[in-house]
Amino acid sequence: MDVVRQWIREARAIAVLTGAGVSAESGVPTFRDALTGLWARFDPRELATEDAFRAHPQRVWDWYAERRQALAGVEPNAGHRALAAFQARYPGRMTLITQNVDGLHQRAGSTVLALHGDLCTDCWLDDPKPCCNRRPPQPGRPPRCATCGNWRRPAVVWFGEALPEAELMAAEAAAESCDLMLVVGTSGEVYPAAGLVHQAHLAGSRVVIVNPEPSALDGLADAQVRERAAQCLPLLLED
Ligand code: APR
Repeated sequence: MDVVRQWIREARAIAVLTGAGVSAESGVPTFRDALTGLWARFDPRELATEDAFRAHPQRVWDWYAERRQALAGVEPNAGHRALAAFQARYPGRMTLITQNVDGLHQRAGSTVLALHGDLCTDCWLDDPKPCCNRRPPQPGRPPRCATCGNWRRPAVVWFGEALPEAELMAAEAAAESCDLMLVVGTSGEVYPAAGLVHQAHLAGSRVVIVNPEPSALDGLADAQVRERAAQCLPLLLED
């Protein structure tokens, strides 16, 4: 921990990549734990894809509705707050990139590059026609345009979909130019997000992984902090 604290103090530009683990202590199930209970029989790739939504719109809509509902009683934790406080103390020094769609970094006050969208926002499944925005969608599971039947869908990036270009380009630029990358609470199994860590490593940045469990990115780590994010981030990021 002390070595990592020193690296953070020395770092001119820090890139942080977070995953579901940073929200675990807020009570948000990690992505792969989110398939508990009713959803345990599904693989994420059976729910978080456009094909799955077109085939079973109500099932996919209900899974996201349940995750949205679970967010209602959830607050940012000490890890989210420590990252936001560091950004506020040192403007421009930390680029926070997240795979999370729970909005907790934003609620903690962080400026974030959200690579996978926003769980609590909808968008149209197909390119909207003028009729789609003429009046509110018809309520339903999922809601749809009363005229043409276009579905509303969660504004998250599904498997096989492109990430938002501006966010990804900014994240890649941060990975390329940082001298320290903190990787917090991600299994590192999903690309292109996980590729940012390879990019930082190849560009000569130090890589620190904060995760109580092993991850697919451990081979790139210059240091591992085998702690939970809400416990250790306040200690790592304090002055
Ligand atoms: N602190 C830090 N890390 C934690 C904590 C914690 N308190 N609790 C769990 N973790 C770690 C787990 O060990 C695991 O490595 O968080 C990681 C969560 O991994 P996933 O559930 O795979 O979530 P994530 O890595 O964010 O998934 C990436 O995959 O399915 C897509 O779009 C989805 O954004 C998601 C992406």
